[in-house]
Amino acid sequence: MTGKISIAVVGMGFGAEFAAIYNRHPAVERCIVVDQSAERLAAVADRFDIAERRASLDDVLGDPSIDAVHIATGIPDHAAQTLETLRAGKHCACAVPMATTIDELHQIVAAVETSECCYMMMETTVFDRAFLWVQAQHEAGRFGEIQMLRGAHYQDMENWPPYWAGLPPMWYATHAVSPPLALADTRAEAVHCFGSGRMRGELQAHYDNPFPIETALFELEGTPAVLEVTRALFHSARPYIESFNVYGSDATFEWQQHNTDLPVIFDLSPLGEGDGPRRTSGTRIELPDYADRLPDEIARFTRRGVYDDSVPHLSFTHGGGHGGSRPHLCHEFVSAIADGRKPTVDEIRGANWTAPGICAHESAIRGGRRVDVPRFGGP
Ligand SMILES: NC(=O)c1ccc[n+]([C@@H]2O[C@H](COP(=O)([O-])OP(=O)(O)OC[C@H]3O[C@@H](n4cnc5c(N)ncnc54)[C@H](O)[C@@H]3O)[C@@H](O)[C@H]2O)c1
Repeated sequence: MTGKISIAVVGMGFGAEFAAIYNRHPAVERCIVVDQSAERLAAVADRFDIAERRASLDDVLGDPSIDAVHIATGIPDHAAQTLETLRAGKHCACAVPMATTIDELHQIVAAVETSECCYMMMETTVFDRAFLWVQAQHEAGRFGEIQMLRGAHYQDMENWPPYWAGLPPMWYATHAVSPPLALADTRAEAVHCFGSGRMRGELQAHYDNPFPIETALFELEGTPAVLEVTRALFHSARPYIESFNVYGSDATFEWQQHNTDLPVIFDLSPLGEGDGPRRTSGTRIELPDYADRLPDEIARFTRRGVYDDSVPHLSFTHGGGHGGSRPHLCHEFVSAIADGRKPTVDEIRGANWTAPGICAHESAIRGGRRVDVPRFGGP
């Protein structure tokens, strides 16, 4: 693609963060903000001085001057709105999860192929500064062989928008599943998952889901390592955390217990060094920022959201800014369109990171039975 792009961001809750970043990105000519709530739309557009405003996704899809759409609407709308966007011939980025059924994942993969547009799943955790640091250590060989991986995401979703009420925890597992799969450069082949705990009846009705917590073991392709993932959404007294741990033969990375702490790396003394037991040393890590990978115009957003304390968005109150990931996500989507290439989290990776959670919930409903996870892409 030649020239700058025009991008519409739909959904002015979480989407507001991205709109403000696109609006300053040097490769973006126009940023258009969209929400069916006139109040929400005006509040964001006025605050960030964005002139172009639309009331619905439909207004955007019929406008040939708009190249790309970033969908930041509620979970049940993601798949249908992604398909509409791609079928309208526009590049599409979408908040996680990519979809909530395997059939929808197949439809999106097919729609990308037909449209020849870019699709990107906006997975924050694989652009988080902790992930970027661990990835660099792994590439340098520090972990040795990866022996086991673990992901966990605990977040109480009481009183969030109504579609959250009773959501199967594993349908929103990508924050816990994606970093381990990305690091091990693999996909989940099969899963055993159990539902855990008791959820009050009123929350069970919406999705016919009895489980406030789900915990799963995934078999991974091409490695003897296993991935263990736990997701909690309701009735569990654990503060918010999105985390992953990597257990290697030479070193281990463990996420901090509190978001205010620092993560730890443990190194194991070399095999054959001395006669006694092997020694482990643990070091807390001051993570570098990686803002130097971004254009100057948006680099400051790794440290600071566009909201301040007077206008907190719920997920930032919980999330503390998602590890500086948001400007990296915007930059990757815009750059992929400009370069005419696939984004790093394209439709295949997005599907391979979303399907494990969908299959895990199916396993939990079937009492922990083994469920094969379909493969997207590859041979
Ligand atoms: N770390 C992360 O990746 C992360 C963090 C927070 C939220 N999210 C995801 O982002 C999404 C948005 O989260 P939120 O908390 O802002 O949700 P929300 O429900 O508060 O906001 C969604 C907005 O989309 C608007 N909308 C829906 N359909 C529309 C349409 N057709 N046209 C115009 N506007 C439309 C609604 O009016 C609403 O204002 C969710 O799917 C959530 O899962 C991801």
